[in-house]
Amino acid sequence: MALGIRSLHPVFAGEVTGLDTARPLSRDQVAAIEAGMDRYAVLVLRDQRLTDQQQIAFTLNFGELEHTRGNAITRPAELRLDPAFADVSNLDKDHRPLARDSLRRLYALGNRLWHSDSSFRAVPATYSLLSGRVVVDKGGDTEFADMRAAYDALDEATKAEIEELICEHSLMFSRGQLGFSEFSPDESEAMRPVRQRLVRTHPVTGRKSLFLAAHIGGIVGWPVPEARAFIRDLMEHATQPQFVYAHKWRQWDLVIWDNRQVMHRVRRFDDTKVRDMRRTTVGGTEMTVAQAA
Ligand SMILES: [Fe+2]
Repeated sequence: MALGIRSLHPVFAGEVTGLDTARPLSRDQVAAIEAGMDRYAVLVLRDQRLTDQQQIAFTLNFGELEHTRGNAITRPAELRLDPAFADVSNLDKDHRPLARDSLRRLYALGNRLWHSDSSFRAVPATYSLLSGRVVVDKGGDTEFADMRAAYDALDEATKAEIEELICEHSLMFSRGQLGFSEFSPDESEAMRPVRQRLVRTHPVTGRKSLFLAAHIGGIVGWPVPEARAFIRDLMEHATQPQFVYAHKWRQWDLVIWDNRQVMHRVRRFDDTKVRDMRRTTVGGTEMTVAQAA
């Protein structure tokens, strides 16, 4: 069956048919997915019964894996999944839902804020691939916002004003929004802010997009309160309903998004139920702007 893509939303997001991602892909199939990503920025594939190894193999068609580096919260021995995965589940290594006050769970609530994966890394990610192994039947939608359409809808004066702006991103800032205010010296070092352009240009399509995320805590050269108020305005603009697609998960859905072109967030769900979502991430190849010395 030939690979096809049908549109799911007026401005972005498509559903792919005619592809079994558990099997090796032809060069043409890889090119078709990449072209689909350039156009739709989010692709949904239903009924992809992937093993971890198959998900990794499929991901490698699009670049190098971004590995989850040990962080201060989850030591390697506590990881449930291979470090090639970002464990976006609500589960501990024994496959039980995390306790309500578990620090890992509380940090993971950052996924409920609009963000772009890994924007807090100097070289941010390109694609994220999320496999729904066990989904919840109520809530837990993943919402996506098209940052190209959001950019296009800005007035010309705003576009000119933001063209060269550089933002500072860190997990400290997104966690700060959830009420975390104290970080150890090691954590502060690991979460040192990185610089990212606010306006990105897609390397293939040449389309401009807003590179926004809850990880932003400042704009270089701006007073912090003014920067945060402005970023809040832009976030509000960029997440209006006409720019948002909400994905309702079915088991074995595979959803791919381009972090250079969209933001996303997960919606609330009953955290006592098992929700096993496994993400592989394609690492980027370049910084959006040089880092501070
Ligand atoms: Fe995410």
